[in-house]
Amino acid sequence: MGSNTAADTPHPSNATDFQFPDDLISEEVQQALPPAHLVRPLHIDDHEKGFLPLLGQLSSVGNVTKEMFRERFHWLQQRNDTHYTLVIEDVDKGKVVGAGSLLLDHKFLHENGIAAHIEDIVVDEETRGKSLGKWIIKALVHIADERKAYKVILNCAQDKIGFYEKCGFKPKSTMMASYRT
Ligand SMILES: CC(C)(COP(=O)(O)OP(=O)(O)OC[C@H]1O[C@@H](n2cnc3c(N)ncnc32)[C@H](O)[C@@H]1OP(=O)(O)O)[C@@H](O)C(=O)NCCC(=O)NCCS
Repeated sequence: MGSNTAADTPHPSNATDFQFPDDLISEEVQQALPPAHLVRPLHIDDHEKGFLPLLGQLSSVGNVTKEMFRERFHWLQQRNDTHYTLVIEDVDKGKVVGAGSLLLDHKFLHENGIAAHIEDIVVDEETRGKSLGKWIIKALVHIADERKAYKVILNCAQDKIGFYEKCGFKPKSTMMASYRT
């Protein structure tokens, strides 16, 4: 039984199998991608298109079954006014080759401002160096702009600073972490 009911869905697009409405996808990014590459919201069937092994190139995924994937997908879909996960698919291969997420933090600060957080950026190792990473960031920043975020922030390892600088970001502050498990 799906956990996604009409009563608790913030957007009508939740009736579809995409995680968020695809009108938030940047047309400029789509036009810039190599042939047969599609930038789109995460889809309920992306478990079958290599989404999790791709994420595994970023960090540990563990054993996420199809059922667990769908459970998390629906959780995200029900929050599609604050959570956005997009992918780039190589349509010829039917394979997800890039992914990234954006989270919106609704604050009191800055007159009820919205801060956007970029998370979980990854490009398949066979496809790196072809600007897909840059286009993923651009597509996420486009969503942040559409949602009127006043800033976009992210954490990254030292050896990724150059990549994010190429995407228009500047180092600021220091990340702190307290891992609980
Ligand atoms: C980081 C990552 C997403 C970059 O993706 P990519 O598609 O290979 O990057 P792009 O081709 O879009 O690179 C854009 C620009 O950044 C540069 N760049 C890419 N990685 C870089 C790095 N680690 N350091 C410095 N510059 C880098 C590229 O040379 C390119 O420069 P150009 O525009 O002058 O040609 C990819 O290497 C990856 O998935 N890594 C593993 C997961 C990871 O660490 N994600 C980041 C988590 S914070």
